Amino acid sequence: LAKVEVELASIPEGKNSIIKWRGKPVFVRHRTQDEVSEARSEDWKTMRDPESDESRVKKPEWLVMVGICTHLGCVPIGEAGDFGGWFCPCHGSHYDISGRIRKGPAPLNLEIPAYEFNEAEGKLVI
Ligand code: FES
Repeated sequence: LAKVEVELASIPEGKNSIIKWRGKPVFVRHRTQDEVSEARSEDWKTMRDPESDESRVKKPEWLVMVGICTHLGCVPIGEAGDFGGWFCPCHGSHYDISGRIRKGPAPLNLEIPAYEFNEAEGKLVI
């Protein structure tokens, strides 16, 4: 299967990048320490699709997700919405800084694809 490599140094802290992977957008966010703290301070057990931030990332500062709204498949907008993450303009779903659904019609969190880090080369491999 085709793999995509992303140079991690090309994504500054606090920025998003959108990668094309098997015809789908993948969001890669280089999270700040504040964003990680925020994602981990919320009570995930009470969320619609309960997942801890820890279970959604391999490294706290790197959030990697399929950029397709789990409602009807639009591409959410980054750095938008009421929860500091992504907002889907199609029908108003709000995702937090861990990509978890917090408000609006989407039933599930943004999906996490299979990925790994190539430490030696400073790359993310999706
Ligand atoms: Fe995103 Fe409907 S497709 S809210």
